[in-house]
Amino acid sequence: MTKGNVFVSGASRGIGKNIATYFAKNNYKVVGTSRNDFNVEEGVKNFIPIKLDVTSRDDIKNCFNHLKSEGLLPNILINNAGITSDQIFLRMKDDDWDNVIETNLTGTYNLTKAFIKNMVKNKNGRIINISSVSGLMGNAGQVNYSSSKAALNGFTKSLAKEVGSRNITVNCVAPGFIDTDMTSFLDLDSKNEIIKTIPLGRFGNVSDISEIVMFLASDNASYITGQTISVDGGLLMY
Ligand SMILES: NC(=O)c1ccc[n+]([C@@H]2O[C@H](COP(=O)([O-])OP(=O)(O)OC[C@H]3O[C@@H](n4cnc5c(N)ncnc54)[C@H](OP(=O)(O)O)[C@@H]3O)[C@@H](O)[C@H]2O)c1
Repeated sequence: MTKGNVFVSGASRGIGKNIATYFAKNNYKVVGTSRNDFNVEEGVKNFIPIKLDVTSRDDIKNCFNHLKSEGLLPNILINNAGITSDQIFLRMKDDDWDNVIETNLTGTYNLTKAFIKNMVKNKNGRIINISSVSGLMGNAGQVNYSSSKAALNGFTKSLAKEVGSRNITVNCVAPGFIDTDMTSFLDLDSKNEIIKTIPLGRFGNVSDISEIVMFLASDNASYITGQTISVDGGLLMY
């Protein structure tokens, strides 16, 4: 018997792929999506890859109908798809702003809007949004990205207040620097400079994020909602 249906956006690589694979290996039925076709790790069952752009409401509608007919509507939604388009603000183009906000913030809105009704009906749901340390402490060159991620923290708190009575929790995970394609543009010198600011002295692994997401999705986290949990090696301390 499977433990529940999970939907992970941005599951073709990096953090999202690791989360999706981790859930699939732990007996959840997982639908993972991205804009481009992708393969799942060999031998992993219960992980269905679907092509879907989180900025396309038509894609989401089609996907919703398909999942409904297959009995795969999620009780666990992980809004992970995200992009950067870094540029100092004075040089930032409208497209840099629009694309990042559309994907990171509106994409989360689009998917949550599509799937939450079923969670409300079933009085059971977990929504986990992947934000970023950049949304909590700011980062030069990322006004667009920080704004989108900070907004996710507000989105999380407000929605958590609305749906708590329906037994739905809504939380954010805010990764620090994690080794994925998103951070692979950093050269060794820049990486070493950043590492000096991280008390644990390293970039995080994708599995550092999957562990906390799995916990937040579990029954053990049933009294945690509206929180943003940093997983950043101590980079940001309040
Ligand atoms: N890596 C870090 O250091 C770090 C730190 C803090 C927060 N985060 C956040 O963690 C999340 C995952 O990051 P990552 O490092 O794993 O990034 P990544 O390696 O670049 O992977 C991003 C994933 O999102 C998908 N994606 C991008 N735009 C999409 C769209 N419009 N619709 C559907 N899927 C889309 C990509 O696939 P396609 O390109 O095929 O669509 C890919 O699967 C992001 O939200 C990111 O902001 C990452």
